[in-house]
Amino acid sequence: MNFDAFLERCRAQWPEFADARRLARSTHPTDRSLSHILAEIPGMATENKLRLLNCAVASLEAGEVYVEVGCYKGASLVGAATANPQARIFACDNFSQFDGAADALRRTLDAHTAPGQVTFHDMDFRAFLAAAPWRPARIGAYFYDGGHSFHDQYDGVTLAIPHLADDAVVIIDDTNKRAARAANNLVARALQSFKLILDLRTPRNHSPTWWNGIQVFRYQRHPADSAIKFPTRGFSIRKFVYDDIFLEMKHRRRARRKIKKDRLHTNT
Ligand SMILES: C[S@@+](CC[C@H](N)C(=O)[O-])C[C@H]1O[C@@H](n2cnc3c(N)ncnc32)[C@H](O)[C@@H]1O
Repeated sequence: MNFDAFLERCRAQWPEFADARRLARSTHPTDRSLSHILAEIPGMATENKLRLLNCAVASLEAGEVYVEVGCYKGASLVGAATANPQARIFACDNFSQFDGAADALRRTLDAHTAPGQVTFHDMDFRAFLAAAPWRPARIGAYFYDGGHSFHDQYDGVTLAIPHLADDAVVIIDDTNKRAARAANNLVARALQSFKLILDLRTPRNHSPTWWNGIQVFRYQRHPADSAIKFPTRGFSIRKFVYDDIFLEMKHRRRARRKIKKDRLHTNT
């Protein structure tokens, strides 16, 4: 992708772009023309996020595609696609998290994207990234908004790396989550060509600014990259701590709360 053009577009949208603390509090970009999308399509996104994706797609070079993992009902896809109806887009979701999103997504794509612009795959992201249906094109802009366990997040980034263009942007959602940040950090530590250029946190999930935090990485391919074998050192211990301990505890707490709630319900 034309990274300088991407940065230029971002600066035009957020005059405070160079000041990450102010940018993190920004409520909307300069151009408000995407604001109707979230009024029409229920999404786990904000106007800022849609515009950031839109700037990325607008900066794709010839022979590059935009790839998105985790579409839900399609708000982020539409925000990205609106940048250029000629841009080719590949996306996947296995609808494992929320009910009823598959039909809603189909309706969204029919109503809001150019015919044939988006190729959608209903499958797990690992199979999608292995199949790489966009080949021989390369990914100029990649948005990962799938599961954010440590393992999912790590695979969501590392499995995409071989398919990235020589200069590409990787945008990751929900990076308030410690597991997601830890996974991204570990990739960046192994791969010097993968640099964090923006790290915006929000006070909570569903924040009107940047939802649940966002990280933006620039990937500039280096010949040594192909020799790096993922997962690298430190993966197993982090996966054990974040997924097998913390995430497991969270699931158990949720299950206990649900049992309590159900009991209360049957007793009243
Ligand atoms: C936070 S939502 C995406 C929100 C969407 N980008 C938007 O703008 O509204 C996360 C999505 O990731 C999907 N997902 C979770 N794990 C996945 C996996 N292993 N493979 C593919 N999709 C997955 C879920 O089904 C869910 O729809």
